[in-house]
Amino acid sequence: MTMSKPCGVRIAGVGSAVPDKRLTNADLASMVDTSDEWIVQRTGIKERRIIDRDAGESQCWLATESLRRALDDASMDAKDLDLIIHASVSSEMTCPSNACRVADNLDAGTTGAFDLIAACCGYVYSMNVADSLIRSGRHQAIGVIGCDAMSTLIDYTDRGVSILFGDAAGAAVLTRDEDPNRGCVYQVMEGDGRGWPSLFIPRNERDVPSGVSAPPTQLGCLRMDGREVYKFAVNKFREVIEDALSATGLSVDDVAQFVCHQSNMRIIESAKAKIGLPDEKVYVNIDRYGNSSSGSVGLCVDQLWKAGKINSGDTIIMVAFGGGMTWSSSVWNV
Ligand code: UT7
Repeated sequence: MTMSKPCGVRIAGVGSAVPDKRLTNADLASMVDTSDEWIVQRTGIKERRIIDRDAGESQCWLATESLRRALDDASMDAKDLDLIIHASVSSEMTCPSNACRVADNLDAGTTGAFDLIAACCGYVYSMNVADSLIRSGRHQAIGVIGCDAMSTLIDYTDRGVSILFGDAAGAAVLTRDEDPNRGCVYQVMEGDGRGWPSLFIPRNERDVPSGVSAPPTQLGCLRMDGREVYKFAVNKFREVIEDALSATGLSVDDVAQFVCHQSNMRIIESAKAKIGLPDEKVYVNIDRYGNSSSGSVGLCVDQLWKAGKINSGDTIIMVAFGGGMTWSSSVWNV
């Protein structure tokens, strides 16, 4: 594909997928020393969804279903895509990428496909990358997926981590649009690698940095210093939203929805209060789905879209932070 005249990017369709199986606070209280009251008070979470591996469900299945639904929403076929970007920290394999396996599952034929890892920022990073690739003229139609089956990475004896996470996928189909003002008008993809010991998934004991304060868990499971991540997130979330507003000159009134990573209800509430964001512009579903890492922002976008709360002509701001540490924003004229 050669370079072409300036263009914009259209969200042609969105989709999401969550497993049917519910993991409630009561279920967790029967597994570790915790309570519904503690979890609701500290996180806002009541239940999360988790894949049923005995029934053949997998992270790749979840990712595939979300993109299938986004393609249906766009009235497009997987063969119309020239690239699939799949963001996750829980892909079954590192080779092949799950983007390639999703392409195969959807019978996409020949299409570019790669996985992107940016922890909870995965969907927002991917939307930014996809927008840039379409604007460059090198791609015409990209399927973006943010999907995590965090239940495959959780040590369910670790109460500091297990209460927080759930499984979900959100997808979008992005296509070239003649209007250059349509699509992502401002984006941030940043990180500070020095913060990585706060949140990581060690494969070997040697991956664990010395002096790390997170409690030991099984290898292959997520280790998190929740308190440290909380301190980082509570400031960073507000900063990222304020930066997106000041860089674009938008006021809160100009923005239809602030679509926030569902990390912890207290983190979202704190940003809302400090910036003065009204309830109806900050969608929350963490009570029902927990923190689904790369899946969370895309799941919110799909639910808002289907509820008629994101429409053509609206401006939305997506924000996320996560392991790495990473943080990201994406301002879209839909
Ligand atoms: O998406 C990005 C990834 N991660 C995050 O966004 C996570 C950010 N962090 C958090 O959401 C919170 O730090 C947690 C929800 C993980 C923990 O909440 P917290 O208010 O920071 O609790 P804490 O770790 O400071 O622990 C407070 C107390 C401790 O007891 P002591 O030392 O005060 O006696 C913990 O042992 O609560 C105890 N505790 C629990 N008690 C009941 C920790 N986890 C639990 C639990 N149930 N599940």
